Amino acid sequence: MDELEFVRLGIDDERDPDFDCGDNDLNEFFLIDSKANCLELLAVTYAWRLEGKIIAFFSVSNDAITSQDVDNFNRFRRMLPNRKRYKTMPAVKIGRFAVHKEYKQQGYGSKIMDFIKIWFITGNKTGCRFVIVDALNKSDVLPFYERNGFSYLTENDKSEHTRLMYFDLKQIALAVLPLDDHR
Ligand SMILES: CC(C)(COP(=O)(O)OP(=O)(O)OC[C@H]1O[C@@H](n2cnc3c(N)ncnc32)[C@H](O)[C@@H]1OP(=O)(O)O)[C@@H](O)C(=O)NCCC(=O)NCCS
Repeated sequence: MDELEFVRLGIDDERDPDFDCGDNDLNEFFLIDSKANCLELLAVTYAWRLEGKIIAFFSVSNDAITSQDVDNFNRFRRMLPNRKRYKTMPAVKIGRFAVHKEYKQQGYGSKIMDFIKIWFITGNKTGCRFVIVDALNKSDVLPFYERNGFSYLTENDKSEHTRLMYFDLKQIALAVLPLDDHR
């Protein structure tokens, strides 16, 4: 993605009114709600620009996986040392994520997912063990996250509008980063 420009969209930054991912709610979030979310410190939106045009965006917030989110919370706690001490586990939530409809099915979505994973294991200010996402419960969206290594936290949301999915950053942290970066 060398030719792409990565940008943080703050409150005053212009949003490209022509951005269209094919989903009106996500388009509206990008154009309008992402500013309010930034102002309220609820979520920050980032985007990729190609030749002056926004081709993808995502918004992220601090979040956590709690016992209510998971069918078997002990399974999660077993991943960690001193597991009794952890009542919640730190995560970053991808609140919104979309690729412009003219740029779908070209690998951008998966490359951005890889970027987010590496971004949150590199030089972080705070601990962040998981990436989580409320994935739209659609036949073209869930397989996308599955292919990108995400799993379901619970079976209870199978009939909901969205399904909560997670990716364990520890899976890649040791493989990607030199040991010094963990200290
Ligand atoms: C879901 C979404 C983000 C995926 O982004 P994307 O850029 O299309 O994702 P990718 O290109 O990495 O992968 C999608 C498909 O393209 C295929 N693909 C990737 N590179 C390809 C290439 N060079 N040539 C052909 N196909 C390719 C992938 O294998 C995958 O195919 P499959 O669905 O048949 O398995 C995008 O479709 C989107 O923005 N949807 C609307 C908004 C939305 O639903 N967002 C999710 C909210 S949770």
